[in-house]
Amino acid sequence: MSKVGIFGAGWVGLVTGACFADLGHEVVIRDVVPEKIEALRQGRVPFHEEAVPALLERNSDRLTFTLDVDDVAECEFLFICVDTPPTYSGDADLSRVWTVVDELPELSGHPILVMKSTVPVGTGEKVRTGLDERGLEHVGYASNPEFLAEGRAIEDFMHPDRIVVGAFESEDADAVAALYDKIDAPVVRSDVNSAEMIKLAANAFLMTRISFINEIANVCEATGADVVKVAEGVGLDKRLGPHFLKAGIGYGGSCFPKDSLALKQLASNSGYHFQLLSAVIEVNELQKRRVIGKLKRHLGSLEGKTVALLGLAFKANTDDMREAPSIVLASRLLAEGAEVRAWDPVADGRKLPKGVDVVDSIEDAVRGADAAVIVTEWEQLKSLARPEIRDLMASPLIVDGRNLLDPEETRNAGFTYDGIGRPQSPSDVLPQTPEPAPARGA
Ligand SMILES: NC(=O)c1ccc[n+]([C@@H]2O[C@H](COP(=O)([O-])OP(=O)(O)OC[C@H]3O[C@@H](n4cnc5c(N)ncnc54)[C@H](O)[C@@H]3O)[C@@H](O)[C@H]2O)c1
Repeated sequence: MSKVGIFGAGWVGLVTGACFADLGHEVVIRDVVPEKIEALRQGRVPFHEEAVPALLERNSDRLTFTLDVDDVAECEFLFICVDTPPTYSGDADLSRVWTVVDELPELSGHPILVMKSTVPVGTGEKVRTGLDERGLEHVGYASNPEFLAEGRAIEDFMHPDRIVVGAFESEDADAVAALYDKIDAPVVRSDVNSAEMIKLAANAFLMTRISFINEIANVCEATGADVVKVAEGVGLDKRLGPHFLKAGIGYGGSCFPKDSLALKQLASNSGYHFQLLSAVIEVNELQKRRVIGKLKRHLGSLEGKTVALLGLAFKANTDDMREAPSIVLASRLLAEGAEVRAWDPVADGRKLPKGVDVVDSIEDAVRGADAAVIVTEWEQLKSLARPEIRDLMASPLIVDGRNLLDPEETRNAGFTYDGIGRPQSPSDVLPQTPEPAPARGA
């Protein structure tokens, strides 16, 4: 069993630390935020991720939390799990990564620095040079990107589709791969640049699928097809598969938006215009705003109308609101003059723009509302289309940004229903001025 040091007690660092401890390794997790380390020492996890608290508790004798960088000096592996947010230009901000390199304590033997943070291609080569310049030639380096998804992070770490290890020296790759010996998954070994690109390309592909199905949904709306059926029929094709074919109000979160921008910038800094990815990003931005158009189609002007935003986290089973569509929706609605109420079972509504009324229950959110928008696919919202909710609303309109509800059942329960890429019922559509009939023979 090995001694593993981890820089960063966020989603990736804490999950990696808890899982390595569960696999039998001795783990020291270091962060720079005293409140986080204090909370962890007291057994409290600073974010919502099911199964993490139990795993930390179960392995508490193999886990230490610290602010002191010297506490990782004895570790054989030093995992970098710090955040790499976008800079103003969209490039990845690697300042925290470099802080870790600069702060490395005196290290003896042949410890290996392992990059789990998502970084641009070429970062490993730069870090390798940086280590050598600092007299740390004896420290190995490997790229070992993380593919976990929030909301199912432990499951993803323990049962990954693959483990990717890129290293400059094959012995370093062997050593990193050996940490995962108890996990049954294929190991993809590569050079460092390719390992970094695997992570960026995988994310870009997933986002491409989301924007693709969202565009198909928009065409379904214009033509009367049902995107849920379309996705089912497409996804059963073995060449395509069913994953990431759920139409909705666009992706958000701490990874996809920043990683797509970072890859786009990486390409353009290298002289290549990544047209497909640019389109994926643009489609996603427009998709978040389509809900406003839907609301206007049903309600006319949104000035003075009350809209309930149900779900604030960027997806269910997490409290992460980084780049969440709820933030864009709330600010667009406020700009349109609407009153906005917001509810989420775990996410912190104070991260929304000022002026939003954050409430504690679904009932409080919809009371007197002109529309309810399902923004996050929380389990609690699956039963939204019930009489008590309908009776509380000023007008029983549900805009289902996640296609969570059954359109027919929702309409039968007395609601006007508008999903993403679902056919409209004649009763849902406001009277329109008829198009003039085309001239015969035209
Ligand atoms: N969240 C995900 O779902 C996910 C999945 C795969 C990959 N990633 C990537 O992993 C990286 C981390 O993501 P995250 O979501 O865990 O970020 P996070 O913001 O939740 O956590 C990062 C942590 O690093 C700490 N930190 C900053 N500087 C430090 C330093 N010098 N020493 C020690 N700790 C320091 C921060 O205080 C914070 O607690 C990012 O590059 C991200 O793109 C994230």
